[in-house]
Amino acid sequence: MADPLEKCFSEAKINGLTLRNRLIKAATFEGKCPGGIPSKALTAFHERIGRGGIAMTTIAYCAAEADGRIHENMMYMHEGIRHELEHFIRILHGTGTKVSGQLGHAGGFTKNREFEGKRPLGPSKAMNALGLAYGLPRIDAMTKEQITERVDVFARAATFMKSVGFDAIEIHFGHGYGISQFISPKTNKRTDEYGGSLTNRMRFALEVLAAVRTAVGEDYPLLGKISMTDGVAGGVTYEDSVEIAAMLEAGGLDVIVCSGGTSSMNPMLLFRGDSLVPGLVKHERSLLMKIGIKLSAPVMFKNYPYEETYFLEHAQRIRDRVQCGVCYIGGVCTTDSIRRVMSGGFDFIQLGRALIFDPDFPKQARARPEYKNGCSHCNQCATLIEAPGGIYCVERPNNFA
Ligand SMILES: Cc1cc2nc3c(=O)[nH]c(=O)nc-3n(C[C@H](O)[C@H](O)[C@H](O)COP(=O)(O)O)c2cc1C
Repeated sequence: MADPLEKCFSEAKINGLTLRNRLIKAATFEGKCPGGIPSKALTAFHERIGRGGIAMTTIAYCAAEADGRIHENMMYMHEGIRHELEHFIRILHGTGTKVSGQLGHAGGFTKNREFEGKRPLGPSKAMNALGLAYGLPRIDAMTKEQITERVDVFARAATFMKSVGFDAIEIHFGHGYGISQFISPKTNKRTDEYGGSLTNRMRFALEVLAAVRTAVGEDYPLLGKISMTDGVAGGVTYEDSVEIAAMLEAGGLDVIVCSGGTSSMNPMLLFRGDSLVPGLVKHERSLLMKIGIKLSAPVMFKNYPYEETYFLEHAQRIRDRVQCGVCYIGGVCTTDSIRRVMSGGFDFIQLGRALIFDPDFPKQARARPEYKNGCSHCNQCATLIEAPGGIYCVERPNNFA
């Protein structure tokens, strides 16, 4: 049998888009959009990744509207940044990479100091722990009109993203953000047609997908990132996620990205490795939040030691269930892991921390069949997203200089 590494470095298609190989840069919000404007540092970061041979880089976070941001230093999709985005994407294309944007909405999970609505909106009334120290302690339940408005907001944002040159859109259905707040029975307590059964809890997600598909057209590449489990009792389970994937495939998604965990309830499930707590406490602006993080740490920041391809077993169940493209994500740092994932029938692999450590990962893995990326999964990069200047690899601080 041919080395599965060859498959990884073969061209591949997502709907109408051809990629030069099967390695995609994962969405890693870089904290390089002060005031919500993409900066030169963001361009330099993704340009460097593009030069390393990645097939497509993902720009996060592309909020569907101003109130869909977790905080004010995130982009939201509007005409005010058209010029900057067009310029940014043009430069990235010069490296040969395609450019995807992760389109999402924070829902009730926000601490945005520029928040314009009365209160953050989610599926159901709840407390917003993230916003406690930022004047946004409560989440209101969306009315049906507000749900329809949010669906329209996603569609408008997608139209905008296509028009500025994004080659693809990755809709964020996971990690505890707005859409997954509807999918999860832990946060969705509605008794109308948007709550209760999985079919009802998926209604908002599928309406967003349908509206985005209509906005961008049939041949435009649409990926979707899901959480295979919320990682909390009473939340989405691995079993549910196989059905969720099948529903999204039927709804017209081209590629499903199989992640897990929730930033709001169990972040370490997706960030396997060293605890985020020391770094988050260090970089948090509010004293109250610093105390909150420390107090919640034993419950919220569980210990999940790093392992290569830690989501593979569960992602394989989705791979075996759907016909559409499936992208593996989570702990790919060696060519052996690439081989294992490709042998499992996956179409693409997303790389997060390994690229922050070594932006030349794709070139290196192609040239050296036994390549091992040296990322230690200290997870310090993930705690720097709100630090001045944003993220970098603390072990290789000059990577993106
Ligand atoms: C600094 C950093 C920022 C991240 N930001 C996002 C984000 O904006 N959206 C998202 O879906 N996942 C985000 N993630 C999670 C990654 O996309 C990915 O799921 C996770 O790092 C596991 O993949 P890896 O083992 O290849 O790093 C982030 C990860 C890191 C390290």
